[in-house]
Amino acid sequence: MKRFLSALFALMVSMPSLSAAEKSAPKESEAYKFADKLIKKMTLREKIGQLQQFVPKKGVVTGPDGGVENIEESIRQGLVGSFLNIRSTKRMHELQRMAVKESRLGIPLIFGFDIIHGCRIIFPENLAMSCSWDIEAIERSARIAAAETAAIGIHWTFSPMCDISADPRWGRVSEGSGEDPYLGAKISAAMVRGYQGKDLSADNTIAACVKHFAAYGAPQAGRDYHTVDMSRFMLIDRYLPPYRAAVEAGAVTAMSSFNDFEGVPASGNRWLLHDLLRGELGFKGFVVSDWNSVHEMVAHGTAANGKDAARQAMNAHLNMDMVYGDYIKYGEALVEEGEVSEKTINQLCREVLAVKYQLGLFDNPYKYGSQNKSEVIYRAENLQFARELAAKSMVLLSNNGVLPLKEGVKIALVGPLADNAYAQLGAWRGLGEAKRSVTIREGLEARFGKENIFYAKGCDFRKTIEGGIEEALRAADKADVVLLSIGLSHKESGEATSLTDISLPAPQQALLDALKGTGKKIVVLLGTGRALDIRNEVEKADAVLLTWHGGTMEGPAVADLVSGDKNPSGHLSISFPYCVGQLPLHYNMKMTGRPRKSPQHNSKYLSRYTDAPNEPLFPFGYGLSYTEFEYSDLKVVTPNVLMGGTVKVRVKISNTGQCAGEDVVQLYVRDLVAETTRPVRELKGFERVSLAAGESKIVEFKIPTSDLAYCHSDLKVRADSGDFLVWVGADSNAKLQGKFAVR
Ligand code: BGC
Repeated sequence: MKRFLSALFALMVSMPSLSAAEKSAPKESEAYKFADKLIKKMTLREKIGQLQQFVPKKGVVTGPDGGVENIEESIRQGLVGSFLNIRSTKRMHELQRMAVKESRLGIPLIFGFDIIHGCRIIFPENLAMSCSWDIEAIERSARIAAAETAAIGIHWTFSPMCDISADPRWGRVSEGSGEDPYLGAKISAAMVRGYQGKDLSADNTIAACVKHFAAYGAPQAGRDYHTVDMSRFMLIDRYLPPYRAAVEAGAVTAMSSFNDFEGVPASGNRWLLHDLLRGELGFKGFVVSDWNSVHEMVAHGTAANGKDAARQAMNAHLNMDMVYGDYIKYGEALVEEGEVSEKTINQLCREVLAVKYQLGLFDNPYKYGSQNKSEVIYRAENLQFARELAAKSMVLLSNNGVLPLKEGVKIALVGPLADNAYAQLGAWRGLGEAKRSVTIREGLEARFGKENIFYAKGCDFRKTIEGGIEEALRAADKADVVLLSIGLSHKESGEATSLTDISLPAPQQALLDALKGTGKKIVVLLGTGRALDIRNEVEKADAVLLTWHGGTMEGPAVADLVSGDKNPSGHLSISFPYCVGQLPLHYNMKMTGRPRKSPQHNSKYLSRYTDAPNEPLFPFGYGLSYTEFEYSDLKVVTPNVLMGGTVKVRVKISNTGQCAGEDVVQLYVRDLVAETTRPVRELKGFERVSLAAGESKIVEFKIPTSDLAYCHSDLKVRADSGDFLVWVGADSNAKLQGKFAVR
């Protein structure tokens, strides 16, 4: 019986979510019908043209070489289906006009751009946003970004990035949602809903792109573009959920990753792009390569030349070649030589055309970019929302009572991020404009009065400034407290910014030391797109507020928090390591056969470091507030649950401090005996709760047993009966514990 239930459940889990499929079904089938008819009229060359994406010579550069000359002629001949990285509405409409009016079949172009955490209004970097654990807010940020993007004339964003990563040596952790598959899945799906809305053809929605498929977040040793060596088991168990969730939310495009998987580069990996993405996850849209990643199979050493690379990618079910041009160069010859069938080309092409149809481009190719921009872009309520989201994303890491600041306080504001309109926008700042950033300095001046802020830059990110420290000391001298805005610049966040040393650069540490010498209270405002080794700063500072790269409205958000107008409520979505040697580090590690916390804990032969703790400096889920929250009365309402039922767990949370606040209540489980090894804890529920001082609430979690599914050795995801431990609290070290069984 148990077996039968497991098998039945396995079937249910592996089926694509019905509701998502149902939702998109009518439009999708209409789109495919349209595409099939159109394909009949197309020459082979024209079909291959739809599979080629170029960046124009003057486009924004987001990768090595690329950029085609003479794009007009290519458009007229139908040799290009898409462009990326054009910012100008006028230019996009000009090119569209050429495609529609001057090419034989008038097929519209699709324009793509990296709108990663906002378009004009820039929200905090994605890793930061994920620390808000506010799924609705994140969806809204994508909604706003979509409306602004569409108003500029862009149809398609290369987002959400669904790559789980637990290695902050890798700069691209900033683009994802941290180390946890459950939180990552909720966020990926929310972003897709935000971008695509309910109607993809509306003039305020855009196509989303599930990237980077797959496992890009685990490059060896944190070095970008490096090999990924991961089992299918690990991929399915821990890395797949955010991609899956984005597909199930209806994302119409996906992007292959740069890395190899099981020795085959993702862009030529049919198991990934066809069997898994389409077969298992039910993806129905089109896949674009990453920048040059088709041609890069030559450098990987799995393709002899560009033609061979195009052959492999086409046969792997990769629809669109980004930038390099191997598809258009060799596609026809490959078909003529029988290396790629015309049926394959038809399939690749129809999936591209169907998305263009769903976007409404065949109805009105100029719909995007024709809106009244001033009504859509930089709307006041959206700026206000960006301020709120930035504040919710910031995490109070330590505080000995110096925060919130007292009214009338005099502040020395020091550091390379304190008045840096550009850096605060972070990596991948879309079409954000530094001139619209409100810096920390401006935010504090507006809140505390200009006369109370004494600013000094102190140093550059990685360089000293002559007289910088002296100037900082003079500022400190006039003030009651020092706010030290240090960290990494936007250039050390995002793609191609891997680091081996994740502590703060020496000039900034020297600045901290000099200011510490004054005896003034020091609050570190830590700006970064990745987790860092901040042992030193935490030890020396009176408080550390992780401000991240907070986006356009970072300044007012910081002012809201340090003044106490708002209470910090962000919680880490990535562990802050004790030291770089622990990486990759994540809370949901496996037990191992020799867990450090075992009955033989005095033995030498346990899984641990001899020179550092196993634990991070700050764990996943961690975040302080100006008030105190107490958790009590954990009750497992359903100690015995039937497979297919729902586990219910209640907990009481009380605000026992002096002011109102919000906390993120988190629920973790451990599957005690499973067929494959399970993490020590896994997040399975969370809720943001707002409480007035003295107030208490009961929070009830409802966990369907399907959420307890995991990857078995036959690579199928299913839930089993068995015993589980459950914890609820404010971080991944939550202490309140209960038990339940699934039968
Ligand atoms: C990045 C992608 C991005 C693409 C287009 C690549 O270098 O890996 O994430 O979407 O460029 O800009």
